[in-house]
Amino acid sequence: MTSNPQPFPSNADPLTDPDWWRQAAVYQVYPRSFSDSNGDGLGDLQGVTAKVPYLSALGVDAVWLSPFYPSALADGGYDVDDYRDVDPRLGTLAHFDDMAAALHGAGIKLIVDIVPNHSSNRHAWFREALDSPRGSAARERYIFRDGTGPDGAQPPSDWQSVFGGSAWEQVPDGQWYLHLFAPEQPDFNWDNRAVKDEFLATLRFWSDRGVDGFRIDVAHALAKDLSEPLPSSALLAAEGDGTDGAHAFWDRNEVHDIYTEWRALFNEYTPPRTAVAEAWVHASRRGRYASPEGLGQAFNFDLLQADFDAARFRTVITDNLVQAAETGASSTWVLSNHDVVRHATRYGLPATPADSAKGQDGKAWVLAGGPEEQLDRAAGLRRARAATLLMLALPGSAYLYQGEELGLHEVAAIPDADRQDPAFFRNAGVEKGRDGCRVPLPWTPEEPSFGFGTGAPHLPQPEWFGPAAVSLQDADTDSTLNFYRRALELRGKRQGAEELAWVPSAASVLHFTRPGGWQSITNFGTAAVALPAGTVLHTSAPLEGGLLPPDTTVWLG
Ligand code: BGC
Repeated sequence: MTSNPQPFPSNADPLTDPDWWRQAAVYQVYPRSFSDSNGDGLGDLQGVTAKVPYLSALGVDAVWLSPFYPSALADGGYDVDDYRDVDPRLGTLAHFDDMAAALHGAGIKLIVDIVPNHSSNRHAWFREALDSPRGSAARERYIFRDGTGPDGAQPPSDWQSVFGGSAWEQVPDGQWYLHLFAPEQPDFNWDNRAVKDEFLATLRFWSDRGVDGFRIDVAHALAKDLSEPLPSSALLAAEGDGTDGAHAFWDRNEVHDIYTEWRALFNEYTPPRTAVAEAWVHASRRGRYASPEGLGQAFNFDLLQADFDAARFRTVITDNLVQAAETGASSTWVLSNHDVVRHATRYGLPATPADSAKGQDGKAWVLAGGPEEQLDRAAGLRRARAATLLMLALPGSAYLYQGEELGLHEVAAIPDADRQDPAFFRNAGVEKGRDGCRVPLPWTPEEPSFGFGTGAPHLPQPEWFGPAAVSLQDADTDSTLNFYRRALELRGKRQGAEELAWVPSAASVLHFTRPGGWQSITNFGTAAVALPAGTVLHTSAPLEGGLLPPDTTVWLG
């Protein structure tokens, strides 16, 4: 099978090459949990700058920085108070510039998160809306409606927010505003020209500051049809499979008009700014977001949702390479991010029914697998390393989430009193939420905070973080950290055309070649398998007597 045969010029200058993103290894930094330079328990931008040598040695092509904007942290920073500033606890715009310069100096691109579906309820515009009367221009920038019932005391519809509870919140004068996520995240009205212009100005602000690309949060929710009467949740759920572009708020066709305007702005820059959509949409509609006239790339979360299973992985890979070829974008591969249970843990829990848990509402964290006491940590990590090595051999870009290079598991044992995720609070604790993958990284084995900073970390770290610390793994040639470094180094040298050819194999084995004779073979089965001739470049676990053991990937050259 062959995907888009776009050549990747290996000698292109990474800082000016317009195609740098096509096969980039992108490392997601969740800044409040990465490295704390001032001891306040929150990671910060100076912490990221200090770790640029670490990122460079890891071998990543780009960093995607989750929100670092002023925020009350009602949703981990995805509740933005001001889109053109830095949270004072994380630094200043000057610190941002220093960080960007340090990354660029190391040949690493910078992607920032843009959160256009909603602001925070502390944003100047929302405060103005609350202080302004019904029907005012200030209210028109958000989605205000009168309530239902004789005195308007009931919400305008029965819609539920993604984090649980009503999607409407009442304000003192009796009106209600829409929040698809937490009440602290009022949805913008994207029919309003002022909203469109404001985001264009924000994209220009960061592009002018040298940002190379953008990750677009909930990219499929901006356009909404809120004509009256609002449909009930039951009616929305009954209205088909989400492929007609006519749902009241998820994945409406006209959302792409917004991205056409954004693309025109991105293309004013050299090289053009890139964007990747976080759009939990039906696979058949993902290409609209990834088109070159639109955002240019869209996350494919299919691998992330697949159990560790050869047939499932094969289908996901094949389908996504076909899609990439159709749109002209390269595919994106993801196994972990800040919203889901870490893949080492997912693969160590009893299998869940494939793809059962995910809808357009982006609630991937319900993929919690099975109960914690059934976690097989060693098996989970072994499979995670095998899946990662397979992923890094695929044509397209690979997104890595901080801490996966240390083989970290999800931290399940967080006391309720320390939890921060609104998904936990708005579900009466039934869903544990996403804090377990957001615990600050361990850099050294020493406490307090395992080298994250000098103060108490904002989420408690478990004792087992000590042995996983960077400094220990650095010195251990067999560590997961050195395994990632070697994989990224080899991958960087071997990227050629975006092509993959399957080699016939047993049902429990995935074997493919890439241009230049590079091969990746993964054994998902329970018995060791023989290998074809070739030089062993890298393995996710040692070979046994020349055979590829179960739950292992090998690269041959
Ligand atoms: C982000 C989440 C966030 C939500 C609301 C998601 O897509 O990845 O972390 O809670 O959007 O902004």
